[in-house]
Amino acid sequence: MEEVSIISSSAAATRAQIIAESREDLGFISDFQDSGVQMELFDAIDTRVSAARLTGPGPTPAQIERLLAAAGHAPDHGRLKPWRLTVLEGAAREAFADAAANAKRARVPTLLDEQVESEREKIRRSPCIVVVGCAVKRDSAKVPEIEQVLAAGAAAQNLFLAAHALGFGVMWKTGAAAYDAGVKAVLGLLPDDHIVAVMHVGTRVA
Ligand SMILES: Cc1cc2nc3c(=O)[nH]c(=O)nc-3n(C[C@H](O)[C@H](O)[C@H](O)COP(=O)(O)O)c2cc1C
Repeated sequence: MEEVSIISSSAAATRAQIIAESREDLGFISDFQDSGVQMELFDAIDTRVSAARLTGPGPTPAQIERLLAAAGHAPDHGRLKPWRLTVLEGAAREAFADAAANAKRARVPTLLDEQVESEREKIRRSPCIVVVGCAVKRDSAKVPEIEQVLAAGAAAQNLFLAAHALGFGVMWKTGAAAYDAGVKAVLGLLPDDHIVAVMHVGTRVA
């Protein structure tokens, strides 16, 4: 399975296409050029805070590439690269939003349509979402599952700090949908894999 999926508004949001757009390896050197002021590391750590409300613009393609590269520099026992990064933008958020809404309806069948719709709206409000999954390699003799999940969590935190350092508002979410097999499937993950972060990235609404 591939490591990075970049789903833009031009991509029809189906599992097959998500996988078709996957990229081989995160070990690339980004050609991202710093066009502005970036925070020092300790400033970024010390000022990191969640952004509850986001709007556009989201990160540019070059900035997204920089965020993915930062994620890919996470510590990783056995160099398994268990993380799976899926960038959802524009109309491509819809497949994810649909899956989250379906999961909610399945959990609470008595919900009204507008209550299910609010699940979709939560996704649509963010210009860019990076889902950090963990595709656990269970044939690894020396790296237990928890260490692979921790590596994916470290990748998520790298990504959060990098986005914050570039000036974006960020919110790390999971919620019940993150544990739903249908939602995982939309991202190319197996039922036993994990979604460790649904990272919303955009412009902070004051
Ligand atoms: C793995 C993980 C999952 C989270 N899931 C949610 C979530 O679904 N909804 C939510 O409101 N906060 C969630 N949070 C917490 C927020 O991202 C946030 O960290 C918390 O509200 C504290 O605010 P702060 O980041 O500004 O310090 C999650 C945090 C982590 C680490």
